[in-house]
Amino acid sequence: MEKLVIHGGNRLTGEVEISGAKNAAVAIIPAALLAQDVCRFENIPNISDVITMLRILSSMGAQVRYLNKHTVEIDTKHITSYIVPHEMTRKLRASYYLIGALLGRFNRAKVSLPGGCNFGVRPIDLHIKGFEMLGATVSVENAMINATADYLTGSPIYMDKVSVGATINIMLSAVKARGLTIIENAAKEPHIVDLANFLNAMGADVRGAGTDVIKIHGVQNLHGCTYSIIPDQIEAGTYMVAAAATGGDVLIKNVIPKHLESITAKLQECGVKVEEYDDAVRVVSTGSFRRCNIKTMPHPGFPTDMQPQMSVLLTVANGTSLVSEGVWDNRFRYVDQLIRMGANIQVDGTIAVFQGVSALTGAPVRADDLRAGAAMIIAGLMAHGTTEIENVIYIDRGYEDYVEKLRDLGADIYRKEFTDDTPQSGAVG
Ligand code: EPZ
Repeated sequence: MEKLVIHGGNRLTGEVEISGAKNAAVAIIPAALLAQDVCRFENIPNISDVITMLRILSSMGAQVRYLNKHTVEIDTKHITSYIVPHEMTRKLRASYYLIGALLGRFNRAKVSLPGGCNFGVRPIDLHIKGFEMLGATVSVENAMINATADYLTGSPIYMDKVSVGATINIMLSAVKARGLTIIENAAKEPHIVDLANFLNAMGADVRGAGTDVIKIHGVQNLHGCTYSIIPDQIEAGTYMVAAAATGGDVLIKNVIPKHLESITAKLQECGVKVEEYDDAVRVVSTGSFRRCNIKTMPHPGFPTDMQPQMSVLLTVANGTSLVSEGVWDNRFRYVDQLIRMGANIQVDGTIAVFQGVSALTGAPVRADDLRAGAAMIIAGLMAHGTTEIENVIYIDRGYEDYVEKLRDLGADIYRKEFTDDTPQSGAVG
């Protein structure tokens, strides 16, 4: 098993290249099932969640070929099975996108429910409601979701709550349905738009992605194409905060600055300088921060997936900051780890109060989930002394080559082997 060791205090400086977006890739790869053809993906992030998704497709009979580290060709012509067993889905929350994609292709899907939860209840009732609105019969037996239809028919679908996953799953199942599907109160995240662009590149007719009404005219056939995944908004935001937290000066390249606006705005509010270029942002920081309040919300609000990282900055901001989590019920578990490092934080339900302290001190901590892990890294980089982070597998799921990227920016961080008999729970995204 591995842990991360960080000797804090180094200023991050230089340039870092952002990889393709995890949450776009894990939606777009299953969408390739809809084409019965060869799709080539560029800018694929080399992270364990993507590798797991590719393994699932491969185990179902797809031919998956890496042309280089970030380009993958997937041929789904010979897939005949619509069943995905538990050993395949347990490690990857996003495996539920296979339900929409298989339903879209075969009018049938039998997919094991994805693994457990790590920040509160994560229901999929909205996904199921969407499939049913399109004419599928859905049952859950022995932790398998079984969805079947003679054929799918387009329908208006109102989402009771804004859900990224349900919006994506409905898009996947509706692109080949008969007639028009209208998703109202749809999620607007950049990866929803990326999926729509990919589906359209395959011959689909999806309009309105990025607004809260998405219209999908079903088409009979989709064809293969070459598609480049968008840069990862959250990876970029994480490096922005890391640069700021260490009083650094970093040019973050291969980004879409528009996707980063809510993060840029909060950093600026804290007194950090952010310069925007066509496909890069530069973060320049003095290392001292004004307090600010954050409320996470669906896009274009401040992303919940940046909440733990940005909160680390607030542990040393001048004064009291309030962080309100508006998406998940239980996304403050990481706070206990920051308190071990000297932070002054009180949590009441979905609100956390950060009373700024002068500095954090290195300590042994753990990554409770992917973004909590990223937050621990940032805390370790800005702390005095040494921080050791366990549960590195969570971080490996979503950040490509982060140790190398951070070392290139001047961080003192490395992986270290250790033995631990404590079982680690399955990772989910
Ligand atoms: C996606 O999860 C992301 N995962 C998450 O990123 C991210 O935190 C989340 O969207 C919100 O932005 C992927 O894209 C793979 P939701 P998802 O459905 O789709 C409730 C990361 O760190 N809800 O938008 O599962 C739900 O409980 C990960 O990269 C229902 O009530 O999130 C939550 O409160 C972690 N019923 C809210 O909606 C449903 O059927 C938003 O969830 C579905 C969701």
